[in-house]
Amino acid sequence: TGTLKVALLGCGTVGSAVLRALQEQADDLGARIGCPVEVAGVAVRRPSHHPDVPAHLLTTDAHGLVTRDDVDLVVEVIGGIEPARSLMLAAFAAGKSVVSANKALLAEDGVVLHAAAAEAGVDLYYEAAVAGAIPILRPLRESLVGDQLSRIVGIVNGTTNYILSRMAETGAGFGEALAEATELGYAEADPTADVDGFDAAAKAAILASLAFHTPVAAADVHREGISTVTATDVARAAEIGCTVKLLAICERVPGNGSATGDSVAVRVHPAMIPTSHPLASVGGAFNAVFVEAESAGQLMFYGQGAGGEPTASAVLGDLVAVARNRVTGAPGPGVTGYANLAVRPMAETPTRY
Ligand code: HSE
Repeated sequence: TGTLKVALLGCGTVGSAVLRALQEQADDLGARIGCPVEVAGVAVRRPSHHPDVPAHLLTTDAHGLVTRDDVDLVVEVIGGIEPARSLMLAAFAAGKSVVSANKALLAEDGVVLHAAAAEAGVDLYYEAAVAGAIPILRPLRESLVGDQLSRIVGIVNGTTNYILSRMAETGAGFGEALAEATELGYAEADPTADVDGFDAAAKAAILASLAFHTPVAAADVHREGISTVTATDVARAAEIGCTVKLLAICERVPGNGSATGDSVAVRVHPAMIPTSHPLASVGGAFNAVFVEAESAGQLMFYGQGAGGEPTASAVLGDLVAVARNRVTGAPGPGVTGYANLAVRPMAETPTRY
């Protein structure tokens, strides 16, 4: 028909912001893509929980929606492994590109999903899965792909950064700061994903996979959360000119000799960093990703890493990029040419920054 029809899977914090933007900015987005854009349907578990969504768009049949003939592109913002995984594979099998915000799924099954998308000749973009609004995955996949990356150090979880920042600013305890973060909508439904570092570990795995052209899964990431960090720890760090941050550290560890002997080590843990380090000034729920590359040198990407609107910005950017690829008939860059460096097992991973 010439109109790009989008199936939206999930309508929570991110999904509803994406839907709102698709409705309110349809003309602008259509102009940028080169054809009109329209929402074909919104799959949710409980339609009665979504009174703001036009009733004719709502369905509980997500599989039926993604495989519908008139759907061109699928936006997956359900999160979690299933049913997101099956739905994504069904979309690829039906020849549809997918835009996803699903860090857990990409960190667990990225290789399989990329292979399925490549086989179908469609796109899989997931900028929103890591650091919300911050463009970091496309820069790794495209802008920096000609360089040799040595290290990425990121603050990639807004909830824990908010908690640690509040503890530092106000001397608040961990529980009080967590309650505030939850109220502001930063925390995952189950805050242990944030607090125990699972969310950051998934994001670290995705960053490392793209940075080092080597599949890294969340299970490969050494992980410590912040639940044992006390108000006293934070105060003592300040006394010695440091601030406590939950860092995701992805490193290329040189082997002895050829570059193919190098390995990759990925870890997430609280660390004291000097207040003079650029990452120390990343406060509130903000995220930042500090990249060290052989030719480019140091780069820092900074912005909002959580919340409906910022995350929707990344989803919509992917949506326009994928839709443009479809208009030109050429899928965007996949993830090919894996270097397949060894991934260090957790027990061998150093635990200090
Ligand atoms: N709970 C996550 C965070 C949301 O706090 O960063 C974004 O993935």
